[in-house]
Amino acid sequence: MSKDSIALIGFMATGKSTVGKALKERLGKDYEFVETDQIIVEMVGKSIPKIFAEEGEAKFRDYEVEACKKVARLRKIIISCGGGIILNKANIERLRQNNHIILLTATPKEIFNRAMREGKESRPIINKKNPFKEIKNLLQTREPFYNSSADFIVDTTEKSIDSIVEEIILYVKF
Ligand code: S3P
Repeated sequence: MSKDSIALIGFMATGKSTVGKALKERLGKDYEFVETDQIIVEMVGKSIPKIFAEEGEAKFRDYEVEACKKVARLRKIIISCGGGIILNKANIERLRQNNHIILLTATPKEIFNRAMREGKESRPIINKKNPFKEIKNLLQTREPFYNSSADFIVDTTEKSIDSIVEEIILYVKF
């Protein structure tokens, strides 16, 4: 059977959730939208910062694997994946079975501006003294993982949500 779903991957604040919701609207009522982070929050009963603070990143990554197993089984779904999902190859292999994997990118400056607007407290991995440096370092280490996971890459810098959605629809041909 051909793939009928989309997994959006990318660093934090590249627009995965915004674009995911817009894709769901564009594709109509047959499609649902989910966020792996939201599934984790519901599964564990704690916010993401609380999980990091009380149980640590390694435990969060275990929860992320579980969330990934759940969403990878769904059909006609748009998945917004947590930024670190690519750190575990098994996550991507699972998602790839029924999902076109679309990478959203943005410049470090754009990511920093967007993330700061929402507050660094909501994002434990950059909640450090110098979030911009943290973003640049993490982007550099993760870039090969993002690129090798992606079926298709969309640079979101200075693009409207509508044009990003159309680029993705043209690629997946739903
Ligand atoms: C993370 C990104 C976050 C969230 C967690 C870890 C990461 O999701 O899963 O804070 O490691 O990049 P978003 O990409 O939705 O911010």
